[in-house]
Amino acid sequence: TDLKDFVEGMPKAELHVHLEGCLTPQLAAKLAARNKMSLPETVTKASTAEGFAFHDLTSFLAVYYPAMEVLQTANDFHDLAMDYLVKAHRHNVKHCELFFDPQAHTSRGIPFPIVVMGYRSALLQAQRAFGISASLIMCFLRDMSAEFAMATLMDALPYKDSIIGVGLDSDERDNPPSKFAAVFQRASKEGFFLTMHCDIDQKNSIEHIRQAIEEIQVDRIDHGTNIVEDTRLVDIVKTKGIGLTCCPISNSIVTRDFKGKEILELLRNDVKVTVNSDDPAYFRGYANENVLKVATDTDVERQELVQLQRNAFNISWISAWRRNHFL
Ligand code: ADE
Ligand code: ZN
Repeated sequence: TDLKDFVEGMPKAELHVHLEGCLTPQLAAKLAARNKMSLPETVTKASTAEGFAFHDLTSFLAVYYPAMEVLQTANDFHDLAMDYLVKAHRHNVKHCELFFDPQAHTSRGIPFPIVVMGYRSALLQAQRAFGISASLIMCFLRDMSAEFAMATLMDALPYKDSIIGVGLDSDERDNPPSKFAAVFQRASKEGFFLTMHCDIDQKNSIEHIRQAIEEIQVDRIDHGTNIVEDTRLVDIVKTKGIGLTCCPISNSIVTRDFKGKEILELLRNDVKVTVNSDDPAYFRGYANENVLKVATDTDVERQELVQLQRNAFNISWISAWRRNHFL
């Protein structure tokens, strides 16, 4: 078969997608009209027919947060999640674990239960309609305080049926994993799986990866491809089975390097690396486009493309999803 057909036909799992990063210009315009609001000018300016456009992380975050203003009701959160899930189903995604940023909503007055109930109803509807399994990973915004993160963790305790893990995202500079050690320790005690963004090419990237592994004891790392520079840490993730959720198209925009070489090196060294879409509405690539980027821009073999998806199912927290939904 043709490579594109092969990639599109593969059953996939996605473990690194931000629901707020699935807000397309079209959906933002629709929700703004429904809520009788006008879109912030920064959002309108960055909109194109194909999606939003930018060149780096700062210009991305400068549109990402203001665009969320259009999310007001549980129905809005439902529609946002459903927009992604319909596309994921078309891309043959069978299982997904979706990040969301509750503090980006509670900090502007939207109650936590509105956010989670809206997302949860979409996940359940998609499960019934397409048989896709989907659950939520709650991210703390690392540029906000550890106290706010802890309060948000408390808000999440009644929703363990849909929230299976916690993560850490937003601006990494001067916000190391250790800042949130107590929050993650409590989250683990409450039964949540742990992951964290260790963004590529950060100044203290290797030290942040070390903290995530040794001090926080994460189950996964989001991005984290800089680990190739440190053989000791590579050995630890192999021994512990810690997986990396990599995002090629996002990398190509945020750092102008999609890190295909590093992803392939780690894959061939038996590290459980995976390919994901991060913020697909913003970086303009869903599951198939991200896998195709690796397929066409590296010398990866088809067997290895299959291995990337095996890795994703293996490091997924699907057993927790089954526990929550069927037992
Ligand atoms: N939140 C959503 N997408 C993100 C990204 N690519 N980097 C940091 N924080 C994010
Ligand atoms: Zn991310």
